[in-house]
Amino acid sequence: MSWKVEEQSFDREKIAMNGNKFMIGNGAIGYRGTLEEFTKDQLTASTLAGLYDKVGEQWREPINAPNGVYTRLTCDGQPLSVLDTEFDRHAQALDIAQASFHRNTVFRTSGGNRIEISSERFVSMEQLNLIAMKYEFSVAQACEIVLDTGIDGDVWDINGPHLENKSVWSEDGIVGLTATTHELRVEVTVAESVTWIGGLSRPEESRQPGSAIRQFKLRCEPGVTYGFVKYVLICYGETEGQSSSATALSIAKAALQLTYETHLQEHLVHWARKWEASDVLIEGDDEAQFALRYSLYQLHIIAPTQSERVSIPARGLSGQVYKGAVFWDTEMFMLPFFLYTQPEVARNLVMYRVHTLDGARRKAAEYGYRGAFYAWESQDTGDDACTLFNITDVFTNRPMRTYFRDKQVHISADAAFGIWQYYAFTGDESVLLEGGAEVILECARFFYSYAYYKHDKQRFEVLDVTGPDEYHERVNNNAFTNALVNKTLDIALQTLALLEERHPAFREALIAKLDYGQDAGNLRHMLLQLYMPQPDPVTSVIEQFDGYGQLEDVELKQLKSRMLNKNEYLGGGSGIATTTRILKQADVVLMLHLFKQQYSQKVKRANWEYYEPRTEHGSSLSACIYALVASDIGNPDWAYRYFLRTATIDLTGDSKQYVGTLYIGGTHPAANGGAWMAAILGFAGIDAGEGVIRLQPALPDQWKSIQFGIVYQGERYRIAVSKSEIVVSADGGNKTAQSFQSGSESVSLAPGASHSWIYDSAKRGALHA
Ligand code: BGC
Repeated sequence: MSWKVEEQSFDREKIAMNGNKFMIGNGAIGYRGTLEEFTKDQLTASTLAGLYDKVGEQWREPINAPNGVYTRLTCDGQPLSVLDTEFDRHAQALDIAQASFHRNTVFRTSGGNRIEISSERFVSMEQLNLIAMKYEFSVAQACEIVLDTGIDGDVWDINGPHLENKSVWSEDGIVGLTATTHELRVEVTVAESVTWIGGLSRPEESRQPGSAIRQFKLRCEPGVTYGFVKYVLICYGETEGQSSSATALSIAKAALQLTYETHLQEHLVHWARKWEASDVLIEGDDEAQFALRYSLYQLHIIAPTQSERVSIPARGLSGQVYKGAVFWDTEMFMLPFFLYTQPEVARNLVMYRVHTLDGARRKAAEYGYRGAFYAWESQDTGDDACTLFNITDVFTNRPMRTYFRDKQVHISADAAFGIWQYYAFTGDESVLLEGGAEVILECARFFYSYAYYKHDKQRFEVLDVTGPDEYHERVNNNAFTNALVNKTLDIALQTLALLEERHPAFREALIAKLDYGQDAGNLRHMLLQLYMPQPDPVTSVIEQFDGYGQLEDVELKQLKSRMLNKNEYLGGGSGIATTTRILKQADVVLMLHLFKQQYSQKVKRANWEYYEPRTEHGSSLSACIYALVASDIGNPDWAYRYFLRTATIDLTGDSKQYVGTLYIGGTHPAANGGAWMAAILGFAGIDAGEGVIRLQPALPDQWKSIQFGIVYQGERYRIAVSKSEIVVSADGGNKTAQSFQSGSESVSLAPGASHSWIYDSAKRGALHA
């Protein structure tokens, strides 16, 4: 079974898409899958996690560092590039087992010469500021070659330029480019140390302003391999009192002490561990197997392994799209993968919300609320990067007022839920004691302050919100939002109870610090009286929000036929979906997944069937949720269609590229996380919580089996599910027994023990065809 994404030709139309598809990264740097000769016009990018910049009134976005991979050959005066040079062969590949990019091109020059280029690169998982690359070429006939390689300072920016005062330097054979960010005046350095191959010696420094390019002019002979090994270091800010240039210089020198192969081996040790912890084996379906692995690869290359100051942006590290901002996508769509496979990464992700709590407090205060109202689009400080006019109308080219920032209040519940899930899953209380409890209490307080008590109805209601379905803004009692508010209140009370029992002094200090004396009582009162939209007694459908059922019930196809422009925004004030029941993405159905134990199969089925034909899937967050609930209600066929859609999104590039006039291309980490959820929580039917791991598989027809490992409460298990049997084995190194349940049979698995259940995969209901 292949672990490679390959492309055997070059297609100009696919440049942007392949930049995403062939991306490499390590959670600190994302390097797009572009070719060495490419420049900003082909969207080259080395996106830095956590370093943002704002120029004027434009959107704040992450820094794209100068491109240290840049390399170009000229043969007898003819520049060689797949963009405009004939070639006999071009192939590029991404090895997802090793997280390395490979390229092989044989150019045919106008003079009839053939120049073969082979290159490879990886963003080191061992040394997080290092990109290592190897670049080799040979010629068929003797010729004059000019080789330019170095650091291209002219980068692709959406709202830049972000880097100022560029200075190029060189010391002890190491070349660097140092610049300062516009807003925060952070020093950024890209430096390179190079070992030349094939007798290349003494390059000339280039005179290209703002870039640090070295140039060789040499007479090349057939039969000789020329080229170089290069280490590109990207550093910013101060490290242990040293400037970025000093740090980059010393690491660049140190990098030269090891061979490329040694750097690669070190990198691979990390990757082997990642795959050991997370790989999923699917027997009987190569397409699903590859797509799922690829989705996991995408998550691994953007996961913060060593920092709790950054989380995963909605477009990963594939560029500046969506302002490099972190949305609810992380908690709701990616966190489960990390929780079940690498809880240490999950910890970083939830701690990010602790470090951005002050930003959330500022936002709540800005709107006149108490507690923490998290940023809809969160960057380094937790202040909201989302603007009030976040979409531009395709018809008028005017910014449109959107209510993502002010009304998508469920974000605070998502943040609290993520922290609690982490705690519940791992038993690691440290997250609560190091700020997690404070976040949860502040989020609950925010909802108390946001909600309304309706005296006539004698209940709390959550009014004027935007739920996951962004096409319907400012609605009342969105079922999903109310359910999450309810959960947040419950979590806050559980947190207080836990602290009282286990850390009374800490609790007392926290209550005093937050002046929370009155709040616990308020939360209890609200929890008892919060209105929760219920299934209709006849149809079992839960209304997405008050009055949803009165909207026009148009078919999706018909709605689309009303569109005047393929990129027009369907929601908001004048969007054509606003007055209809068409929803952008899973909303009620997401709630049914999150709280699956609280709803009957009948209710889940009725709502899936009702909302599915009315969902546009205008967000890449939608398909996986329909897959999950389809599995839950016993329809693996539908689940499979939605699973494939989610798992292949970054392989096919099949997703919206524009909303209004806004470019939204890039990778889709939420869908990648959704693919894992659909496979493990959906098809394999795993549901771990409250001390029990439940198994309720529903494998698609073509799958013979699925096998994977999980971690729960720090203990490891292997699970294999076939069409008729579930086998769970507890790792020999586990310390305690764990209970598992499938159907009516529960077992407690001691360390090293295994158990198998026989089940009948055919005993499943069917959904509408
Ligand atoms: C979706 C949001 C999502 C955002 C970032 C939007 O299109 O509606 O739910 O958080 O994209 O992925």
